[in-house]
Amino acid sequence: MTVQIDPVYVTDTLIAEDIDAYLVQHQHKTMLRFLTCGSVDDGKSTLIGRLLYDSKMIFEDQLATLERDSKVSGTQGQEIDFALLVDGLAAEREQGITIDVAYRFFATDKRKFIVADTPGHEQYTRNMVTGASTADLAVILIDARQGVLTQTRRHSYLVQLLGIRNIVLAVNKMDLVGYSQERFYEIIKEYSHFAKQIGMETFLPIPISGLKGDNIVTKSAAMPWYAGPTLLGHLEVAPVNVSRMQDLAFRMPVQWVNRPNLDFRGFAGQIGAGVVKPGDAVRVLPSGKTTTVKSIVTLDGDLPQAVAGQSITLTFNDEIDCSRGDVIVQSDAPCEVADQFEATLVWMDEQPMLPGRPYLLKIGTQTVTATVTEPKYEVNVNTLEHMASRTLGLNAIGVCNLSIDRAIPFEAYNVNPDLGGFILIDRMTNATVAAGMIHFALRRSQNIHWQALEVNREAHGALKTQKPCVVWFTGLSGSGKSTIANLVEAKLHAMGKHTFLLDGDNVRHGLNRDLGFTDADRVENIRRVGEVARLMTDAGLIVLTAFISPFRSERRMVRELMAEGEFIEVYVDTPLSVAESRDVKGLYKKARAGQLKNFTGIDSPYEPPEAPEIIVNTVELTAEDAASRIVDLILAR
Ligand code: ADX
Repeated sequence: MTVQIDPVYVTDTLIAEDIDAYLVQHQHKTMLRFLTCGSVDDGKSTLIGRLLYDSKMIFEDQLATLERDSKVSGTQGQEIDFALLVDGLAAEREQGITIDVAYRFFATDKRKFIVADTPGHEQYTRNMVTGASTADLAVILIDARQGVLTQTRRHSYLVQLLGIRNIVLAVNKMDLVGYSQERFYEIIKEYSHFAKQIGMETFLPIPISGLKGDNIVTKSAAMPWYAGPTLLGHLEVAPVNVSRMQDLAFRMPVQWVNRPNLDFRGFAGQIGAGVVKPGDAVRVLPSGKTTTVKSIVTLDGDLPQAVAGQSITLTFNDEIDCSRGDVIVQSDAPCEVADQFEATLVWMDEQPMLPGRPYLLKIGTQTVTATVTEPKYEVNVNTLEHMASRTLGLNAIGVCNLSIDRAIPFEAYNVNPDLGGFILIDRMTNATVAAGMIHFALRRSQNIHWQALEVNREAHGALKTQKPCVVWFTGLSGSGKSTIANLVEAKLHAMGKHTFLLDGDNVRHGLNRDLGFTDADRVENIRRVGEVARLMTDAGLIVLTAFISPFRSERRMVRELMAEGEFIEVYVDTPLSVAESRDVKGLYKKARAGQLKNFTGIDSPYEPPEAPEIIVNTVELTAEDAASRIVDLILAR
């Protein structure tokens, strides 16, 4: 049986009588964005279904999705059955679960709503953070029978971190606890205790039943003791953030430069905070150049003024440099510019955070490269204790320092989430691995300046009549890196070249003696070696390095430290079976016997180079031949 669902339910009679008036009214309604969170079985789908169902306004696109879903078949052309609606929503969300948050739209006579429907499983913290970043309000759902759970605490902590100040504590399934006032107060008491600890100033508790509809849209007859608003009643009047953002100083990250012809040059973006008018004095950051606004251009013509939330194009009275990623700010109230920050990170990837590894950092309209230090601490969301930690695993929340490859305009997240919130992206997999919130810039970034040196790297190189470079050997343990690198150095030395060989086993006795073989330690090992190699090239040397350097990310990081053509990656390609059969140091045997953990190729990964400058196959070539080829390549540069 296929079933038809009537496209739109509206209680509003205006739509029938005067469609234009209706549309005007609809257009000028404010929009409240909120998210629901809680643990797995707390009844989110039922609650959202109830809001959609009882507010009697479901948009066509939603119905289309529901109809596509075989689980939903409404009743013959009439009302959709409530239970079926809920099933459909749940099924749809489960299907989209790994992708992102499902956004639901609905509206009442007073307001439009977007609700971010986020799954409750622990591993989906990511989705919650995504949903929360734009929310005005959070509904934290609690199962009245269960009370406050770990997931309730984690989500409340995140909601607080993300700066949502409008919190509804929806105590759900009240019907299953006999609509007990006592139970409701018990939960409020338990939650208040935690809320106070995390610095939550207020929250509004509402006893509800999503299933039965108590206190969702209409007041519950079963709970006469409750005198507060219904959930929808509160959602209709709760303040929205846009008005708060309008009160701040003007900020607009530049999305793109609009240059249709030589006579027009505008800067397009969405206003993150404040108000702008023609004539206003503005500053472009990070350059700091100032000018005044000539016009505010939109598709509907020029505007006398624009406010936070609007997408516009600005033109200036002076020709000054301004490009994508820059931020246009009020001239006498600029934001800070820095390249080192303290921030809270919410780690969202299966792969733990690796201190020292470069990640992409996306903030505003800008993408830069950032490295993260070891966490200062990790937060235990149950006890709120600060725990020592060397890394951050899936769902961990911690405070770290970040260092960025260039100075960027920013604001503390709690002042302006637009310029203080960021995500981290893995450079190899392109996965979003963390969400972050900037606390403040580290002063040292302002106080340490690059010192220009009289005798620079060119001068050092010239005296030695050579062009410095790094010859980076990578390959498995026992592949022959050190042997070949030694031969290469001997040959270059004999030719009168000034060289230096950094070898893994040696460096690990001194500079890196504090490091072991976890992923995090290997990242730090290579970071330090990279910096040392780079300094040695500044001294004019040809530097050879022999480290397993198992990860592409870190080899790429060192490559990027060097100028074009000054990084020569040598892949010493020896199959694991061959390296293992040689087993010069007897380490493979130990690793196989389980006496040596995290051994490369056995229980720790090796990522072969994708585009090395040269590959030497030690099965086909002797070490001598391999060395000669590498020397030829170095000299040919
Ligand atoms: S890297 O992975 O961080 O680049 P590095 O080249 O410095 O490693 O050190 C590798 C050398 O350390 C190996 O040649 C081997 O002699 C020794 N070693 C000891 N334990 C391990 C291990 N678990 N994995 C790999 N090498 C190890």
